[in-house]
Amino acid sequence: MNAPSPPALYLKQLQVGPMANFVYLIGCPRTKEVAVVDPAWEVDRIARIAQADGMKITKILITHTHFDHINGVEELLQRTDAQVFVHKTEVEDLPGATANLRQLESGDVIQVGDVKLTTVHTPGHTRGSQCFLVSGALLSGDTLFIGSCGRVDLPGSDPKSMFESLGQLKRLNDHTVVYPGHDYGDTPHAPLADQKRRNPYLLIQSIQDFLHFLGHGTRPVL
Ligand SMILES: [Fe+2]
Repeated sequence: MNAPSPPALYLKQLQVGPMANFVYLIGCPRTKEVAVVDPAWEVDRIARIAQADGMKITKILITHTHFDHINGVEELLQRTDAQVFVHKTEVEDLPGATANLRQLESGDVIQVGDVKLTTVHTPGHTRGSQCFLVSGALLSGDTLFIGSCGRVDLPGSDPKSMFESLGQLKRLNDHTVVYPGHDYGDTPHAPLADQKRRNPYLLIQSIQDFLHFLGHGTRPVL
């Protein structure tokens, strides 16, 4: 007997705001439920697009709690009764946290209709940065960009954790399509195999080389 095929996916990538953020709508075409990933900047537009497609926003997924990824959460909660999913280490960084808040750990699965998203904790850019893996798509937040990776010189950043997180992502299926948290690359999304060939941060093999590349390398005293 053949294995059941994965459910069809509703996926929209919207560029919003002054920092080239990407917001995602991820949902189930059958039940018409949809999750908004990193709602920010243009809540009205995000809600209108979901409504025009007949989709009902039931969940909000946060890749990390930097302002440019979450500044639409409160407004969206005024319009919907969505549950808000954030990594457990960043719960307190989410202003306006409500009874709708749900804490995530790596491996947790979020169900949106028939669609299942798996949480992958990828600290480095922030302690609670996480990616969401769904039907061959990786929503990579500010961990992995097309052609680069997230900053690791901010409060809560950790370059070594970033190196390990990128190593974790490199082990995913090569056909996985990377959907980043910002439009910083030469294309809005790309297969992981492509990024493993040409993203310098994925090409580096050792933590020492990674730290040197970032400018964090320790120089000999003499
Ligand atoms: Fe960020």
